[in-house]
Amino acid sequence: MHRRHPGAHPARGSALIRKSTPKDLSVEGDVNLSRKRNAWQDENLGAAARALLAEDARYFLHQSLSTPCLSAIRSASGIWLEDLDGRRVMDFHGNSVHQLGHGHPRVVEAVKRALDTLPFSPRRYTNEFAVTLARRLARLAGHDLSKVLFAPGGAEALGMALKLARLATGRHKTISMWDSFHGASLDAISIGGEALFRSGIGPLLPGTEHVQPCDPRHCHFGCAGRCDARCADYVEYVLQKEEDVGAVIVETVRSTDVQVPPRDYYRRLRAACDRHGALLILDEIPVCLGRTGTMFAFEPYGIVPDMVVLGKGLGGGVFPMAALIARAGLDIAPERALGHYTHEKSPVGCAAALAALDVIEEEKLLPRSRVLGERALVRLRKIKHQSIVEVRGVGLLLAVELNDAGLAEEVLYRCLSRGLSFKVGQGNVLVLAPPLIIAEAELDRALEIVEQCLS
Ligand SMILES: Cc1ncc(COP(=O)(O)O)c(C=O)c1O
Repeated sequence: MHRRHPGAHPARGSALIRKSTPKDLSVEGDVNLSRKRNAWQDENLGAAARALLAEDARYFLHQSLSTPCLSAIRSASGIWLEDLDGRRVMDFHGNSVHQLGHGHPRVVEAVKRALDTLPFSPRRYTNEFAVTLARRLARLAGHDLSKVLFAPGGAEALGMALKLARLATGRHKTISMWDSFHGASLDAISIGGEALFRSGIGPLLPGTEHVQPCDPRHCHFGCAGRCDARCADYVEYVLQKEEDVGAVIVETVRSTDVQVPPRDYYRRLRAACDRHGALLILDEIPVCLGRTGTMFAFEPYGIVPDMVVLGKGLGGGVFPMAALIARAGLDIAPERALGHYTHEKSPVGCAAALAALDVIEEEKLLPRSRVLGERALVRLRKIKHQSIVEVRGVGLLLAVELNDAGLAEEVLYRCLSRGLSFKVGQGNVLVLAPPLIIAEAELDRALEIVEQCLS
């Protein structure tokens, strides 16, 4: 048994305190430990922002990708964020909650109404908001994806999917992808594939096999940039060798650096899962609800997963909401607790989600995402720069991959100074994810900023 020596409290015994410094910082988003960031702050922050940042750093535990923060904001509205110094930036990052931009009036109104009537629903009770949302998601997902559970965050919803897969198959092993991100909880980082989250943290979940994701530019199967889905065949190879894998978990489109597998990839993955009795779980937390031009990113692939996980923008950008949608046949665990989250059927969160779905339909954001995305790709592909190795995208999820991580970071800080915020994925990919409500002229202006900052 592991016993702690009475005097050796890990928070005090300095010998026990290790600073974890993963070598691979090319991750999820831009890290907060760089000299370029410090230089940007020296040049751009006013006194009020500095004071608030100091208090933030004083009271929050420091961690990569957030505290210490870059700057402080005072308002978020539509496509815009405004910082304490009055600088406005277009938000092409939005932590992927911003399909509708920030504070969409329809969402705000729906949330206020729910707050006035039913601010909370104890788990013993159901409520009209929750049932309406579950029915609507089931209808949207179609096929037999008709059973739903809600959770307050994506990682929790993914965790419910993992538990359900174990119960349904009687197998605990999983196959997931290196370089993937599925959330920050221990189960999610076990299937995730990023060192920043996994290193130095001790034992992760057992049986979590990892394979190479579909990433044609860095393919170990020699597809030389033209994916022939041999990476999907390798998933089948592992399924066959292991014999008892319960689930294959994939981000349908990897949002951190915009990886859009070819159609054949998912066809083969689906067939392999069927042959070997594994469930196919698609993580669409950041890409659902229009980001890729369709309600669900799996639609164009012509396959149906066993489960799909949504989150982020599901809460209309204002409320933490995530959902697991599963095949009806997976309703097999009535005597187990799969979720049991306090805010499981939040009327406020469900009201926000219903309003978000209304807006997506009424403002025709799905075709808008496709049309604006195609225009943006054409525009980005016209940029001539020796460091651009690829421009790719789907819907309004766009990527400019550079061969120079230093330049990618430099471009980010130049763009921030000129009014555009976005994420740098895997260290060298400029990921541009505009709100789907963006006006054409604003999108053009943003792409112009990118072009100027690249040269
Ligand atoms: C692909 C993917 N899965 C899961 C998550 C986790 O979602 P949450 O932060 O709501 O737990 C994220 C968050 O960035 C994500 O991008």
